[in-house]
Amino acid sequence: MSGIFSLKQRIGDLLGAQRRLPPPDYSGFPHKHLLGIEELEASDIQRILDCAEHYIARNQQQDKKHAILKGRTLINLFFESSTRTRTSFEIAGKRLGMDVVNISIAASSVSKGETLLDTARSLAAMHADAIVVRHAESGVAHMLAHHVQGAVINGGDGAHEHPTQALLDALTIRFHKGRLDGVRVALCGDILHSRVARSNILLLKKMGASVVMVAPSTLLPATPQSFGVDIARSMREGLDGADVVMMLRVQHERMEGKFVPSVREYFARFGLDRTRLAYAKPDALVMHPGPINRGVEIDGDLADDVERSVILQQVELGVAVRQAVLELLV
Ligand code: CP
Repeated sequence: MSGIFSLKQRIGDLLGAQRRLPPPDYSGFPHKHLLGIEELEASDIQRILDCAEHYIARNQQQDKKHAILKGRTLINLFFESSTRTRTSFEIAGKRLGMDVVNISIAASSVSKGETLLDTARSLAAMHADAIVVRHAESGVAHMLAHHVQGAVINGGDGAHEHPTQALLDALTIRFHKGRLDGVRVALCGDILHSRVARSNILLLKKMGASVVMVAPSTLLPATPQSFGVDIARSMREGLDGADVVMMLRVQHERMEGKFVPSVREYFARFGLDRTRLAYAKPDALVMHPGPINRGVEIDGDLADDVERSVILQQVELGVAVRQAVLELLV
């Protein structure tokens, strides 16, 4: 494995550096909930990332438990499918000593017609200290935050926001590049339907990174200029000088009608392969929030190439970010 992408080497460096780091500061975090990146200041983001960094090395050790939240209860309430977000919140909560409950929507009283609000109120009545919610409708996490006692964490709401994904992406970039300020990120693919894109654009701009959106016009938001980032209509133009190439999944499930002519044509114009990656800087990171559509937005071999792709490291650092978020909120 090459030096630039050796996570083990970086973990070793980090373990050494942590001996000199002050302990993380969990006091006085100025938010009760994590609903979106929009509500966070740059200093809040910095603090979450600094706290998360303390967990990266700890999560590599045999004993990963740090039961600072023993006796607290975390509920995962996912109305949309999830592998990474739901599981990593469960692992994060358990590593902090929390009791974690996963609600199966199909087996819950939602299937009998109970409203989202009544469901959430019932969970809150059981003294949940935190609820992670994912829902197909934008704004659901905000709505719950007005009606329940514990902390509400947005695990993804419609095409609106996915704040912990943007935080783990930022931690991954900072881990490899040593900073966010001045880093050039090419965000490529289905930006129109992507809550990951929205949260990432908000976060990266707040932290001083520069962003270019690369997509066919059918997969750009209605007013792309309003995002205040660069826009490119080809991979060659968009990847030029990029430090990070962040690919986005084509979200067929959120599309009514045809947004792309065919999968083959989409990959031919906007898919990431080694030829296109060469437009970016030689040490550019390849990222993807997952799940991946191999051969649609990214070549499968490139996605698996640990010399270039940090996709699984994003998943790994996602646990550390969620531990930090739970500690700071709960
Ligand atoms: N990136 C992400 O949110 O993955 P899941 O849908 O598997 O949670």
